[in-house]
Amino acid sequence: MTLEVRDLHVAVSGRRILHGVTLSLRPGETLAIMGPNGSGKSTLLYTVMGRPGYSVEKGFIKLDGEDITSTPPEERSLRGVMLAFQDPVPVPGVKLATLVTAAWNKRRGSRDLARPDPRLSMELRRLARELGLREELLYRDVNLGFSGGEKKRSEMLQLIALKPRYALLDEPDSGLDVDGVKTIAAAAERLREQGAGLLIVTHYARILRFIEPDRVVVLVGGRVVDEGGPELAHRIDREGYRRYTGPGSGS
Ligand SMILES: Nc1ncnc2c1ncn2[C@@H]1O[C@H](COP(=O)(O)OP(=O)(O)O)[C@@H](O)[C@H]1O
Ligand SMILES: [Mg+2]
Repeated sequence: MTLEVRDLHVAVSGRRILHGVTLSLRPGETLAIMGPNGSGKSTLLYTVMGRPGYSVEKGFIKLDGEDITSTPPEERSLRGVMLAFQDPVPVPGVKLATLVTAAWNKRRGSRDLARPDPRLSMELRRLARELGLREELLYRDVNLGFSGGEKKRSEMLQLIALKPRYALLDEPDSGLDVDGVKTIAAAAERLREQGAGLLIVTHYARILRFIEPDRVVVLVGGRVVDEGGPELAHRIDREGYRRYTGPGSGS
């Protein structure tokens, strides 16, 4: 089983953003993608998720050997690929618990997506407590009036409840204080224990102090410019990205 991205070239609004990205992820593995602002990290995750408007001009995405480059995002999600957004948007009119319940029922082939499941409700309340979310947020419209930290926690709650095989986490710790970062790292660890492969996009190595990646990939200008072990993240923390972006770096 693998999530494989090969030689991916992607354009958004007619502009080429990714110029040949190759990487692969197995269940249980943790891969960190680091890179400066605007290097294409979110674009890569959106493309893997199948977001409309992200057009693959060359290369492919394979899930367990099967080409999913043109598969609709809903189907990718049902097959176990899920994304935690960098900036989760409000979904007025849909309560958080309702959203998760519908996705949960869909995954079980149930026709009545709205049917509450007592086991799930209990699990959601437990997860909310673990993540430091007030229980009442479960019964509020998704992300509507949520604080930055609550949105990030809510994303992790949705993923843990729905048990993806591949979790794409887009800067899951951005804007959080130290305790928030630890909570999110613990949630990511939970996903890993459930057997998920994690693709953690991060700007800083901060969260990687609490959840050690197996590999680190550096993305600059839509290209993979470096790869290594966890020590690479710590070097970037000390030196920044100048080595890759500075004059004469040849990138
Ligand atoms: N919808 C869009 N239309 C045009 N350009 C975009 C769009 N979305 C992102 N970009 C551009 O693509 C580049 C990569 O963006 P992004 O993937 O968000 O980077 P990162 O997540 O690494 O900060 C940036 O230069 C950004 O301006
Ligand atoms: Mg981004």
